[in-house]
Amino acid sequence: MFFKKKLKERPLPKHIAIIMDGNGRWAKKQGLPRSAGHVAGAKTFKNIARYCNKIGLSYLTVYAFSTENWKRPQQEVEGIMNLLRDYLRDAENFKDENIRVRFLGNREPLADDIKELMLKNENESKNATGLNLNIAINYGGRDEITTAVREIVKSGVAVEDITEELISQNLYTKDMPDPDFIIRPSGEYRLSNYLIWQSAYAEYWFSDVLWPDFSSKHLEKAIEDFNKRNRRFGGV
Ligand code: FPP
Repeated sequence: MFFKKKLKERPLPKHIAIIMDGNGRWAKKQGLPRSAGHVAGAKTFKNIARYCNKIGLSYLTVYAFSTENWKRPQQEVEGIMNLLRDYLRDAENFKDENIRVRFLGNREPLADDIKELMLKNENESKNATGLNLNIAINYGGRDEITTAVREIVKSGVAVEDITEELISQNLYTKDMPDPDFIIRPSGEYRLSNYLIWQSAYAEYWFSDVLWPDFSSKHLEKAIEDFNKRNRRFGGV
């Protein structure tokens, strides 16, 4: 309770982006297969998204599957895709909760039923006024920028009209605020091709906790730390 009160008094970040890392190590520690780590990670994802909605956060973006994750064993890739399917089929996730869900990434190589479910979830939640939840699937920052550049060149825009704004407007996150706070648990200190354009001025928060063990208490602590940072945006 004490924490909740304090949280309300502090400004929240506008857009939190999370790298949900450490599922495999969590499973190994328990003597379970990696897939069990992803199952636990998906539960944590739902809890954290709900919590972010409850505290009034505007944007949450989670990294569920990167353009590099296809290199994992087929069984693991299928496991993650099935968790995504389960989540998407469970329309209850969004209806009662006023969460608007969108997907960032290249959908092309995904299974047709997943693509359909993504569109359905986006359409059905498009008027929600609570949390804007972005799930990055087959997402890669370099891939996103390359795709944007291709679109811009195709549009025939004059060289002098190529601006940062124009590039931003051709990314998956167009019309969204840039993430101002990036959280990576599991003791890794990398961005791993995540929102590399958008995170130019973000604050970073790292923790040794493995994603399945990440709780609202960790998020509260992270937000508390965010509020202590002095953000100067290149000024003094
Ligand atoms: C990174 O941990 C995690 C992933 C690549 C997958 C994240 C996916 C989920 C949490 C499930 C997504 C589900 C929904 C519904 C969005 P890792 O496997 O690289 O962990 P490790 O570094 O310990 O091996």
